[in-house]
Amino acid sequence: MPMQPWFPDAKLGIFVHYGIYAVDGVPESWAFYLGQMPREEYMKQLGGFTASAYDPRSWARLFARAGARYAVLTARHHDGVALWDTAAPGGLSVVRDTPAGRDLLAGYADALREEGLKVGFYYSHSDWSHPDYASVRHPEPDPGQAPVNDNRLSSAAPGAEDPAAWRRYLAYRNAQVRELTTRHRPDLLWFDGEWERSEEQWGIDELADEILAAAPDAVLNARMLSRGDYATPEQGVPMQPPSGPWELCLTVNDSWGYQAQDDRHKSVGQLVRYFTETIGAGGNLLLDVGPREDGTITPEQTERLEGLGDWIRRHSEAVYGTVAGLPAGHHYGPSTLSADRRTLYLTCFDAPRETVSVRGLRNAVRRVTVLGTGAELGHHVTGGLHEVPGVLWIDAPGGGDVDPHATVIAVELEGELDLYRGTGRD
Ligand code: GLC
Repeated sequence: MPMQPWFPDAKLGIFVHYGIYAVDGVPESWAFYLGQMPREEYMKQLGGFTASAYDPRSWARLFARAGARYAVLTARHHDGVALWDTAAPGGLSVVRDTPAGRDLLAGYADALREEGLKVGFYYSHSDWSHPDYASVRHPEPDPGQAPVNDNRLSSAAPGAEDPAAWRRYLAYRNAQVRELTTRHRPDLLWFDGEWERSEEQWGIDELADEILAAAPDAVLNARMLSRGDYATPEQGVPMQPPSGPWELCLTVNDSWGYQAQDDRHKSVGQLVRYFTETIGAGGNLLLDVGPREDGTITPEQTERLEGLGDWIRRHSEAVYGTVAGLPAGHHYGPSTLSADRRTLYLTCFDAPRETVSVRGLRNAVRRVTVLGTGAELGHHVTGGLHEVPGVLWIDAPGGGDVDPHATVIAVELEGELDLYRGTGRD
């Protein structure tokens, strides 16, 4: 399927890991899987999940202030607890099994759309609570996979496979995905948990065909295996950008869900770096927050989202609708390029001192300004011989033209960007 144009233009999405794991503030699903707490104790959190201050409109307004164009909410994580009133047999849900007692997805989708944001749902293929889940084994178990404390949680014991139970499990998963797609027509489905079975076992083709029949424009992430539309690097900007569309998912602190003791929040300045490095290499940033069990987002995470949003608002021309900028080596920092390929946006971290330089640029330069303040900067070229272009030197901006997090310099080119990529020999 050709990529929906809204996705590469969006640049920023907000990932929301919201579930019963916020009650005790433990790792989402993994707390019992990895044996950090007994399963019974983990499931006691069902009794404490109230969503008592859940206000998806305030989430949507915050995400819009952050500069995001879409959001992805954990409709169901590996623990199997759905955030909606699923009718699929054998599943847990916050509607039936927690004091929250209501569907949390409908309000979320409406609230995002009111703010002009695209609607995404995270959904785990695996369900470590469903009675039929541990009925088959992966045909080629990968010894490098996450450590498994109790194998029975994720696969059948050797020799005890039950294909009929696995078919029931797939029917359950497909029914849940059908509920999500037919009720909300999501713009994006963000799958996870695919590593526990093969593409054939998951019935990926059948599921993808069914999703696209109900929601033909839905974007699917790479955890739909061969039917995914974009790559999903996690927690670190790739050194080599993936070849097609991609999205970096990144936590604001170190945890996907709410964990009270985790105060290792990235600063606004660090988030601006992650963001500009990601979009400069052609990706989107999916920045994750973990609301508390009552549905509120902590002040620490709120401030970071708002701080990033302030920076984006001052530099929106260099963000939305741009494409990847210069490959490494031409400029010492990330950059983006306007859709018409005639304006380069150079990001400068810290205060540039004397000059900002660009190497390997064949175009003549019409004008150089500081984005946001409009200050015009002097520039000239030195050197160059035959086909090897000289160096473009831009006078460093000063004073009020330097942004506290990252200054963006707009370089208007004669014609479309034309780079020299050779070795310098004639
Ligand atoms: C990691 C975490 C998982 C989280 C996911 C998001 O795989 O283990 O809990 O949902 O990242 O990509």
